[in-house]
Amino acid sequence: MAKRALTGIKPTGSPHIGNLLGAIQPALSLQASHDCYFFVASYHALTTERDPARMRQQTLDVAATWLALGLDPSRAQIWAQDAVPEVTELAWILSCITSKGMLDKAHAFKDAVAKGKDANIGLYSYPVLMAADILAFDSHVVPVGKDQKQHVEMTRDMAQRFNHIFGETLVVPEVLIQKEVAVVPGLDGQKMSKSYGNDIEIFSPPKKLRKKFMSIVTDSRGVEDAKDPDSCNVFQLYKLFATPAQQEDLAARYRAGGLGYGHAKQELYELVELAISAPRERYQALRANPEEVRKILDDGASRARVLARQTLDRVRGAVGL
Ligand code: ADP
Ligand code: TRP
Repeated sequence: MAKRALTGIKPTGSPHIGNLLGAIQPALSLQASHDCYFFVASYHALTTERDPARMRQQTLDVAATWLALGLDPSRAQIWAQDAVPEVTELAWILSCITSKGMLDKAHAFKDAVAKGKDANIGLYSYPVLMAADILAFDSHVVPVGKDQKQHVEMTRDMAQRFNHIFGETLVVPEVLIQKEVAVVPGLDGQKMSKSYGNDIEIFSPPKKLRKKFMSIVTDSRGVEDAKDPDSCNVFQLYKLFATPAQQEDLAARYRAGGLGYGHAKQELYELVELAISAPRERYQALRANPEEVRKILDDGASRARVLARQTLDRVRGAVGL
């Protein structure tokens, strides 16, 4: 039987190239080899989102994004996290075997507090809910970006602890990190992130997309100067979309001099535009037809719930409920 892969993406703002290369594409490529479970992490978003209209819209938008980029609902499941209440049921049970000390160590929470964000209990217990997402579906592998590694390790801890106390009940999952694109740089060279405002949205209209690429930060070398591709943000992003031959060609022109950064940015933009123009059209068609997206999410939730219910029955039996 194929192994089950599961991942979640929060509906907080339009997905960017970091999400695409670090999470969505690696996850979608598993459709050929795995039984895929992908969900929109609405409850996780609720730790910070306060606008109900935006929550509804972004949940649909994230689903439309995955569908536009190649999620095949006849082979993989996609649903909204809140449509499977078994997950919150499991989160409570897991929270009863999770030490506060472990949650105190979560980088995501510490970072949020350091940035002065509202330290609500949902944000604090975020790793428990994430563990429930993963464990409710007996997931074998969890494809995520590097920043989520600690959360998956905590999930493994919780599963092992549960099994140790109550007997073999939960599948202990493996994290799957796409090494070569573990951290996609943003416009300023730091990790691309919505929260740093240095991101490039996947489905921006061509004009806006081009403008974003033109705003990538570079050093002040002039057109004629020889340039170092390895320390240039433009080239780092180019590498993620180009074939090895294209990379070598552009790197050689960097080193030779005579290539301005503006020109390199234009080449990067054209390469990305070529890759995303067809998915962008599919995305726009899905956005114009929210009923279709809703139906796909509902179907996915019904199928996902069957599995989560089986796990919860097993878990409840194990703990004596
Ligand atoms: P953001 O940092 O923009 O808020 P999220 O935290 O919502 O992004 O991340 C969603 C998924 O995309 C996660 O699996 C995360 O690891 C991945 N991801 C986000 N940013 C990057 C990046 N710059 N490089 C690689 N993967 C990323
Ligand atoms: N915490 C993840 C993020 O910020 C989203 C997420 C929620 C997730 N539940 C998950 C990812 C379960 C993988 C598995 O991106």
